[in-house]
Amino acid sequence: MATAAAGSCPRRVGFVGAGRMAEAIARGLIRAGKVEAKQVLASAPTDRNLCRFRALGCQTTHSNQEVLQTCSLVIFATKPQLLPVVLGEVAPVVSTEHILVSVAAGISLRTLEELLPPNTRVLRVSPNLPCVVQEGAMVMTRGRHVGNHEAELLQNLLEACGLCIEVPEAYVDIHTGLSGSGVAFVCTFSEALAEGAIKMGMPSALAHRIAAQTLLGTAKMLQQEGQHPAQLRTDVLTPAGTTIYGLHVLEQGGLRAATMSAVEAATCRAKELSRK
Ligand SMILES: NC(=O)c1ccc[n+]([C@@H]2O[C@H](COP(=O)([O-])OP(=O)(O)OC[C@H]3O[C@@H](n4cnc5c(N)ncnc54)[C@H](OP(=O)(O)O)[C@@H]3O)[C@@H](O)[C@H]2O)c1
Repeated sequence: MATAAAGSCPRRVGFVGAGRMAEAIARGLIRAGKVEAKQVLASAPTDRNLCRFRALGCQTTHSNQEVLQTCSLVIFATKPQLLPVVLGEVAPVVSTEHILVSVAAGISLRTLEELLPPNTRVLRVSPNLPCVVQEGAMVMTRGRHVGNHEAELLQNLLEACGLCIEVPEAYVDIHTGLSGSGVAFVCTFSEALAEGAIKMGMPSALAHRIAAQTLLGTAKMLQQEGQHPAQLRTDVLTPAGTTIYGLHVLEQGGLRAATMSAVEAATCRAKELSRK
């Protein structure tokens, strides 16, 4: 099992669980050249998802233990309720050489450390689906036995998939509400934006394409120019113009309050699931 030198990326990366999130991260890492496809090993009980890993040029197995025996950095991406069983299964082959990463929503570092042998280096990452296009928004938080070197190594690796910021664990459930679930909230807004145009007579495909590009362009301006959204919104306003008429309707519909409540509800649900 090869370990990585300081600051460099590990030669081999393992995935236990090969579903949507594992694939999104693997694709991001491979596209960015952080790891070669043939150096990725993924495990899952069936070939349902593993076939997509094989199509990427990755190695696959049905043995979770084999992933731990071959890779020093392993990302656990099973459904949260399965993770305790999976960690119990691999625990006999876990050593202090491993860097283990869980992306499972709602499983705390404390629980992860309790389920693994003493002194295991374990980190928690909250990703989101845009990792697949290298535009993810991730936060990571480290366990008690993780030093700066391992945290930097993981951050450096995951930055291939988008933004990756280390935060206190208390922010992780909020990130799930803001960004994990946020992808669905933004899709709902994009769909509604397009449907407004369809109602006014624009063909559907064109309307959806323009709506998505509007989101992308606005997001880029917010990021690159570092502006507060309120500033950019004001820049678009002309007195008695089209935008203020539209914004008035959005305020009447309670878009802002509904969005805040959606993030609050998703965060509370993430906290509730963490307690189960
Ligand atoms: N999707 C998101 O947007 C998102 C966002 C943030 C966090 N997450 C977290 O990411 C994790 C994975 O979510 P997902 O959406 O990728 O789930 P998913 O698509 O259902 O994938 C789950 C994977 O786990 C595999 N699996 C099931 N039992 C296993 C076992 N005993 N050992 C090894 N692998 C096993 C499944 O195998 P098969 O291929 O054989 O079915 C599948 O490949 C979850 O914990 C979730 O909380 C997801």
